[in-house]
Amino acid sequence: MESINEVRIEEHDGSLPTVLMIVGSLRKKSFNRQLAQFAAGELADRANVHMLDWHEVPMFNQDEEFPTPEPVAAVRTEVAEADAIWVVTPEYNHGMPGPLKNLFDWLSRPMEDGSLSPIVGKMMTMSGAAGASCARDCFATWLPVLKALKMCIAPATFTGVALSREMFISDRLELDDAAKASMRNQADALIALIDQE
Ligand SMILES: Cc1cc2nc3c(=O)[nH]c(=O)nc-3n(C[C@H](O)[C@H](O)[C@H](O)COP(=O)(O)O)c2cc1C
Repeated sequence: MESINEVRIEEHDGSLPTVLMIVGSLRKKSFNRQLAQFAAGELADRANVHMLDWHEVPMFNQDEEFPTPEPVAAVRTEVAEADAIWVVTPEYNHGMPGPLKNLFDWLSRPMEDGSLSPIVGKMMTMSGAAGASCARDCFATWLPVLKALKMCIAPATFTGVALSREMFISDRLELDDAAKASMRNQADALIALIDQE
């Protein structure tokens, strides 16, 4: 499967907005990573799509906030440079995955110079692949967090994909027409929101 990082390096177009994909799973064969790659395809020609690499971000510890750990500074820079973010996340125990919440806790903090976190007010949308709940319980737990961070959520808010037994066996995400249409709708809504600004 094509790497989004390759797309970013080879096809960066300065006239296009930048959308940063944040995948909530660190698993190599992650279904959510595959869903993010589908989303990137839907944004192609309308945005430069970057995939955030956040696997080195440490567990949040307020004692270790300053000086800012290098992996944290790197993800903050990526967020600051993006016009919008698209979070694609699994559901863990009917809620948000702990590692992703940890990333957001780091991102939520003010910068070393006291300026506001770059994630505050950022335009965004969210999707998820999980079991029968389609990650909707996860999304529900994110809503108050996104509100606290004053994030600007695109109107077509959420696509939830239910993973089938066959997908779990093959480790390959298959999207039906309704899921594809919903992802396209999200891509269109995010681009429209960016264009409004
Ligand atoms: C710790 C943990 C908790 C999970 N809890 C749920 C859950 O509450 N609801 C659900 O639909 N799937 C749940 N799952 C299954 C995930 O949806 C599934 O493992 C999925 O493949 C994870 O996404 P990924 O492929 O992007 O890593 C859980 C998986 C893990 C590892």
